Amino acid sequence: MTEPIIFSIHDLDFYYGKSLALSKINMKIEPKKVTALIGPSGCGKSTFLRCLNRMNDTIAGARVEGEILLEGSNIYAPEVDVVDLRQRVGMVFQKPNPFPQPIYDNVAFGPRVLGTTTNKTDLDEVVETSLKAAALWEDVKDKLHTDALSLALGQQQRLCIARVLATRPEVILMDESTSALDPIATLRIEELIAELKQDYTIVIVTHNMQQAARVSDSTGLFWLGELVEFSPTTEIFTRPKEELTESYITGKLG
Ligand SMILES: Nc1ncnc2c1ncn2[C@@H]1O[C@H](COP(=O)(O)OP(=O)(O)OP(=O)(O)O)[C@@H](O)[C@H]1O
Ligand SMILES: [Mg+2]
Repeated sequence: MTEPIIFSIHDLDFYYGKSLALSKINMKIEPKKVTALIGPSGCGKSTFLRCLNRMNDTIAGARVEGEILLEGSNIYAPEVDVVDLRQRVGMVFQKPNPFPQPIYDNVAFGPRVLGTTTNKTDLDEVVETSLKAAALWEDVKDKLHTDALSLALGQQQRLCIARVLATRPEVILMDESTSALDPIATLRIEELIAELKQDYTIVIVTHNMQQAARVSDSTGLFWLGELVEFSPTTEIFTRPKEELTESYITGKLG
């Protein structure tokens, strides 16, 4: 039996104008697993992550070659609706970026814009389910109509996760989503990731080796735009295949 695959990336090259930022990336991402991307600053981790939901599309001169298949279909095919794609592949950013609006409206935003949930009872239900899934419901259930910016940073980040969950994605991309948080808030997000992977495929970028080791099933090391090694996380951290991986994870390089 072949392993189930959600994303299948073939010979992906990415250019910012004339500058090659990713070169010949091949990777298979398994569903309902956590994949971590590590590597030094500027090696292309964010660029790669943004390719997975076409967030790079708006950058002038950006160009993709090769293929990214999501459940067998090329996400760069001309007929693909990018709004649909970003609903299926949601993104959580480095700094929590809730809208300066009530907590409720932040979570209801996606379903309202996409028109997936329109009546009040259904919307209430989606907001509650998403906040519960993001481990934030108990903190905010009595103040759903307070401004989201009044929450602590870690809570704001869980709110951003709830906002993504409300659009019912299949994949959640997280680009250094705990790097602005204190250790306790970070731990809560890591615990949340472990819970969410029962239902979602998660791809994270992190500079924190311990985090990659704790939360991920597979880890990929990027280096100067190339994917140097992609292996089960336990292997990467105990018996890496590449010397470069060994040097990087032991802190000798980077
Ligand atoms: N919008 C852009 N236009 C032009 N070049 C860019 C753009 N964004 C990134 N780059 C370049 O592409 C390369 C990869 O950048 P990227 O942001 O993907 O790296 P990264 O691994 O995420 O780094 P970091 O760990 O610092 O976030 C870098 O050389 C960067 O300068
Ligand atoms: Mg980055």
